[in-house]
Amino acid sequence: MPVGGERTLSAEWTIREVLNWTRGYFEDAGIIQPRLEAEILLAHALDVERLHLYLSPDKPLTVDERAKFKTFIQKRRAGVPLQHLIGEVTFFGLRFKVRRDALIPRGETEELLDRTLRLVARDRDVRCLDLGTGSGVLAVCLARYLPRASVVAVDVSRQALDLARENATLNGVADRVAFQESNWFTDVSGRFDLIVSNPPYVESGAIDGLASEVRDHEPRVALDGGTDGMEQIRALVSGVGEHLEGDGQLLLEIGHGQGERVSCLLAEIGLEDVTVELDLAGLERFALARRPA
Ligand SMILES: C[S@@+](CC[C@H](N)C(=O)[O-])C[C@H]1O[C@@H](n2cnc3c(N)ncnc32)[C@H](O)[C@@H]1O
Repeated sequence: MPVGGERTLSAEWTIREVLNWTRGYFEDAGIIQPRLEAEILLAHALDVERLHLYLSPDKPLTVDERAKFKTFIQKRRAGVPLQHLIGEVTFFGLRFKVRRDALIPRGETEELLDRTLRLVARDRDVRCLDLGTGSGVLAVCLARYLPRASVVAVDVSRQALDLARENATLNGVADRVAFQESNWFTDVSGRFDLIVSNPPYVESGAIDGLASEVRDHEPRVALDGGTDGMEQIRALVSGVGEHLEGDGQLLLEIGHGQGERVSCLLAEIGLEDVTVELDLAGLERFALARRPA
């Protein structure tokens, strides 16, 4: 195959052959789910559902399809995240556009959302604030799954806010999500029943050691939590007292090993029922607290 490697393809390049070849090509590059990623990228290049690949394995690719797919797999092998190549992700059952302007949403953040939704009755009028909205996943899902909610989505990055706005429109909730460019609470007014945030919490010194897929392709402002990983958490928590309603809930995504320090911060500002919970991998990942009524 023109992109290199020992394996060969027939002149026809059928779907089956291309998938088998690409699985090996990705495996050699250390990509963890080589067959799955090959299928996702081929389906994207052909503009079909993945199922179609199984229904027509002997169909040859056209010259244009080959060229498009070849570009995708070369970029993927060079470390471009799969999500950036296909331009979207599914998060909590909804579709979101993704690009370099904002963090690629993670499974742990779906767990944060799940915890949030379990705290609020669906039919409640609830004012929600998403601090550091990025692609807008939390804000948009809150608006979609809590039909009477009004949501404010904040980010310091204008590019992230543009993406979040597109995602609110894509998911039909643009009328219930307000977007605010702000350094945490600096330009935020009012009080909220629910404040959620997945702030940057990686220690600055650890960023160089992250996988290149993350380090070189995701915005540093979405990752960098300062020297001890806690600088942004401290900055945002300092504004919570003024903006969280009595009996309101705060839910934060945090880094493993930050639980005790975050709990102390939340207790210091007078929040109650402070708990730290583990994610599905068994790591400290969520801090929850309530403001006394
Ligand atoms: C870890 S990302 C989370 C993005 C999104 N909420 C998610 O869970 O996928 C953190 C977000 O916080 C934003 N951010 C960083 N510093 C900020 C600040 N001082 N004020 C507001 N937002 C900030 C970043 O731009 C980024 O979008």
